[in-house]
Amino acid sequence: ADESVAELVASRLRDIPDFPKPGVLFKDFTPLIADGPALGALVRDIADRYRDRVDVIVGIEARGFILGAAVAYELGLGMVPVRKAGKLPGETLRESYALEYGTAEIEVHNDAFEVGQRVLVIDDVLATGGTAEAACSLVERAGAEVAAIEVVLELAFLDGRSRLGDRTVNAILTV
Ligand code: PRP
Repeated sequence: ADESVAELVASRLRDIPDFPKPGVLFKDFTPLIADGPALGALVRDIADRYRDRVDVIVGIEARGFILGAAVAYELGLGMVPVRKAGKLPGETLRESYALEYGTAEIEVHNDAFEVGQRVLVIDDVLATGGTAEAACSLVERAGAEVAAIEVVLELAFLDGRSRLGDRTVNAILTV
């Protein structure tokens, strides 16, 4: 990623100790998205990497929705939400996965993609990779292809990348 954007992101992430439970150091990106110029620079940095290379954006609940919608708008594309189980109203595909803290299930509408569509999957953080891997599985089961996974922050010590196989992963900032 562009160094200045990485620096911008690094300067606007806030560490919250013991959230959502003791021992977890939560990387809060609300200061980043609250800053208009920083949000704009981040969104354009991501969008410029994929211009004319993807057909649709997937945003992962919840912070991936914020970035995903902004990047989709910047690229003139649509955004498909991958949500926690039970939230989407239509017929869905579902995947279970292990989180850094706990387990969860996520879903996508089973008619969300055209066959062969190139998908950019966006989230705020890649930690253990369970969420991103489950999201990619949903995209692929629904008939589309994952062009890349883009995250703002990669927690490299958790080695989430190894769960994503050959898929392309880009992180703005890696710690
Ligand atoms: C966080 C984060 C990613 C995921 C990363 O979301 O926003 O989606 O965890 O963790 P992983 O790589 O270990 O799977 P969270 O599950 O806290 O949900 P939320 O965004 O709805 O709060």
